[in-house]
Amino acid sequence: MLKILTVIGARPQIIKAAALSRAIKNNFTKELSEVIIHTGQHYDQNMSEVFFAELGIPRPHYNLAVGSGRHGIQTARMIEGIEDLIISEKPDYVVLYGDTNSTLAGGVAASKLSVPVAHIEAGLRSFNRKMPEEINRIVCDHLSTLLFSPTATGFNNLVNEGFNTHTKPPYTPDNPSIFHCGDIMYDNSLYFSELAAEKSNILSDLNLNSSDYVLATLHRDHNTDNQANFSSIIDSFIQISKNTQLVLPLHPRTKKVLLSNVNKSLYQKVKLNSNLKIIDPVSFLDMIQLEQNARLIMTDSGGVQKEAYFFNKPCIILRPETEWVEVLETGAAILAGADYDKITAAFGKLSNLINIKFPEIFGDGHSAEFICETILKNNE
Ligand code: UD1
Ligand code: UDP
Repeated sequence: MLKILTVIGARPQIIKAAALSRAIKNNFTKELSEVIIHTGQHYDQNMSEVFFAELGIPRPHYNLAVGSGRHGIQTARMIEGIEDLIISEKPDYVVLYGDTNSTLAGGVAASKLSVPVAHIEAGLRSFNRKMPEEINRIVCDHLSTLLFSPTATGFNNLVNEGFNTHTKPPYTPDNPSIFHCGDIMYDNSLYFSELAAEKSNILSDLNLNSSDYVLATLHRDHNTDNQANFSSIIDSFIQISKNTQLVLPLHPRTKKVLLSNVNKSLYQKVKLNSNLKIIDPVSFLDMIQLEQNARLIMTDSGGVQKEAYFFNKPCIILRPETEWVEVLETGAAILAGADYDKITAAFGKLSNLINIKFPEIFGDGHSAEFICETILKNNE
C-alpha cells in the first residue's frame, strides 16, 4: 500500500482535492491510502468546512490551524507543522495543489525530508513575479518529482525551464518527470454540474433567471490592495449592473477592503445599486450552478476563469495576464486588468459575441485517475 500525504489549505485546493480523493475511493483503495493535512490557511465556515460536507471529501486527519498572516510568518508556521507530520506519518509521496502558500510550505517541508512531491497544476506561469503565486509555483515545480500540468502551455513552460521530457523511471527529485494530463478542476465540474442543477437553490434564493445575470468574483491582492485598481473594478461593476443583475460572492479579503474606512463612499454607491447583489462566499454546488446559468463571468480567480470556459461562458479576466492562455486564444475571454474602460468595453464586446467556440483544452475529465496511476507506476 502506497501512502500519500495531501496538503490543502485554501478554498480551491479543498475543491481540487475532492477529485483525487474520489478517484482513490472509486479505483485505488487497495493500492493507495491518503492522509490529508489542512494547513488552516482558509478557516471561515464558507471558505473551508462547507466543501468537506458537500463534496464528500474525507475529513482532514490534521488541521494545523495556521490562519492568516504575512507571507513569511504564515508559510513558516505551515512548514513547521507539515515537517512534523511528514516525520510521523512517513508518506511515500506528498501531493500538492496549485500555487498558494500552503503549496510552497508543503514543497519545502517534503523536499528537505527527501519525500518526493507530486505537484498538481504544475507549469503554469504568469511571468509576473509580483504575484506571490508565481513565486510559489516556480519554487514548488523545481522541488517536485512528478509534475502534472493541466495544459499544453503549462507543459511547455516546464520544458522551457529545463525539465527533460525523456527522463526514465524511477523518477526522483533529481530525475523528475513532467506530464500533460488535463485539469483536475475539469474532472470536478463534469462530476458535480448535474448534482448542482439538482440540489442548489441559489437561483431562486437570489431571485435570478438563467442567462439573465452576470457573475463576478474578485480577490487578487493586485486588485484588492491597490486602491486605484479596486475602485476602478468596483466602479465598472456598478456601471455594468445598471442594465443587468450582477452577483458578487465576496471573498473575505475583498469584503474587508470594501468595508474599510477608505472605501466608505464606494460602498455607499454599491449599496444604492439594487442590481448589484453582494453575497457571502457560496458553496461549490451553488457556485457552479451560478456559473452554468450566468450570461457572462467576470473574475480575477484562476479557478473561476477555467470554470467559465468549462461551462461555455464568456469571461472578462480582471488581471493583466493569465496562465490560461489557451482560453484567450479561443476568444472566449478577454484580459481587461483593472482598467474601467477595458472592462466595460470587454463587456460590450462579449455580450454581443455569438457562436464562441469552446474546444476541449482541459483534458477528458479523468486527470485524477491518471495522476493516481502515475504515482503508483513510479513505485512498482
Ligand atoms: C489565497 C492564495 C491565492 C488563492 C486564494 C484562493 C496565497 C499567497 N494566496 O489568497 O493564491 O487564489 O487563496 O481563495 O496563498 N480571510 C478570512 N477568512 C478566511 C481566509 C482568509 O477572513 O477563511 C481573510 C484574512 O483577512 C486574510 C485574507 O483573507 O488575511 C487573505 O487570505 P490569504 O489566505 O492570506 O490569501 P487569499 O487572498 O485568500
Ligand atoms: N468558489 C466557490 N464559492 C465561491 C467562490 C468560488 O465555491 O463563493 C470556487 C470556484 O468555483 C472555484 C474555486 O472556488 O472552484 C476558485 O477559488 P478562488 O477563486 O478562491 O481561488 P483561485 O482559483 O483564484 O486560486
